[in-house]
Amino acid sequence: METAPSRFAYESEVLSPEKKTDAYEDAIRQLDSILAGESHAILKMATINCVLREALPYYFWVGFYLVHDGELVVGPYQGTLGCLHISYDRGVCGAAARTGAVQVVPDVEQFPGHIACDSNSRSEICVPVHDREGSLIAVFDVDSTELGAFDAIDEACLSRIMRQHFSR
Ligand code: SME
Repeated sequence: METAPSRFAYESEVLSPEKKTDAYEDAIRQLDSILAGESHAILKMATINCVLREALPYYFWVGFYLVHDGELVVGPYQGTLGCLHISYDRGVCGAAARTGAVQVVPDVEQFPGHIACDSNSRSEICVPVHDREGSLIAVFDVDSTELGAFDAIDEACLSRIMRQHFSR
């Protein structure tokens, strides 16, 4: 498939399971230290995007969609222009919000209703984010230019990061 050229600089190296686990452990340590004692949700979201984007070279787009007025609206992110509004009945992010379950999508073209904000995105993971009371406040979304970039390691580590920084 032809993809549109992007001026956004990125690498697309997909890591071995060992390197991926090490990179996440390093990012988790950094985040625990940087965000200790912080309570502002947007501050935490911006920092999580930055630290994870630096640590994981296969991340192309990384960010949060915030629950607002019964839909998802774009929040802090790094990458090319993200869609501004996503309804719960659309796309990977809508599915994560609607079901409360992590969505791992190895090939976005095979996902019914996938929303292509950038045609360079080929695989995706989306993790629901809950506050301390258990209410859904956002979804955390990562796209890669590689097929099948996300697996059970990403799911476990990202779920742990979201729990640690938003649900406790
Ligand atoms: N692909 C997502 C939309 C958000 S972006 O990828 C930045 C979806 O289908 O929900």
